[in-house]
Amino acid sequence: MDLVKTLIQEQTDKICKTYKIEPNEVQELLSQKIKGNGELVDIINSSENLKQVYRTKIFKQFIKKAKKEMYYSLRTYQKESEDLVDSHISSRERSEHIDKLFDQIDGHIKMAEVILDIGGGLFPASFPFEKYPNLKQFIWVDKDKKAYESLKKENYSKLVLHNYNIGENLWEEYLPEGLSEFDFVFMLKLIPVVNRQEKELLEVISKVPFKQALITGSKEAMVKKIDIEKRENAVIRGFIDTFGFNIVKKIDLPNEFGYIIE
Ligand SMILES: C[S@@+](CC[C@H](N)C(=O)[O-])C[C@H]1O[C@@H](n2cnc3c(N)ncnc32)[C@H](O)[C@@H]1O
Repeated sequence: MDLVKTLIQEQTDKICKTYKIEPNEVQELLSQKIKGNGELVDIINSSENLKQVYRTKIFKQFIKKAKKEMYYSLRTYQKESEDLVDSHISSRERSEHIDKLFDQIDGHIKMAEVILDIGGGLFPASFPFEKYPNLKQFIWVDKDKKAYESLKKENYSKLVLHNYNIGENLWEEYLPEGLSEFDFVFMLKLIPVVNRQEKELLEVISKVPFKQALITGSKEAMVKKIDIEKRENAVIRGFIDTFGFNIVKKIDLPNEFGYIIE
């Protein structure tokens, strides 16, 4: 095997051990980048083995930049995809286990007429509307413009979309007339994000009027293959304790965990 091929293979194996990325994506990116890097190609061609290549400044800079690019592309929630569920990292990661999620929460949402989804992303695209005939409105609030546009195009009949920041409007403004609380609220993978980015909004979220809500967190980091359940659980339990909610049920999926609260 020539040195370029071996280099790509070795670096792909290494990157895939750490990052949540498919080997073919890494291979493609590295081979494109190597082709565009004349200095590195010269070094590889004039080296006897990869050890020599790995020691050079040019290679070190090259691999650092490539990893940075991969890191940032993995950090974005959305990517182009024909399938809506697949285009948002949160719904994509959950899609394999979506039936397990609904098996665990079914009894808590089957009588719900009004559901609120805070920071919903593209979750409505995987919500099985046909399974819940009692549902009248599924109300979505998220600041993400792209997710809003994508969901709007789908025209789900019960879905009501509000493209706002949390706290921009009173929760009561999202409630259908005559109602004082939501039957069920989804806060999927939201509390740890808000805790990291806009802590002051946790109190705003705690004031949503609801009968029951589901709060979840991730078990694995977004970009790297690192277990973050403990860290996310501490944030979520902190939220539940600080604002005095009661845990009704624990939800467990292979890559997500959560609590139904009252
Ligand atoms: C990790 S994603 C989870 C998406 C979805 N709940 C799911 O689990 O599939 C977090 C979502 O919260 C939204 N979000 C974060 N901070 C927000 C804020 N201050 N106001 C409105 N939406 C927010 C983001 O736009 C993003 O769609």
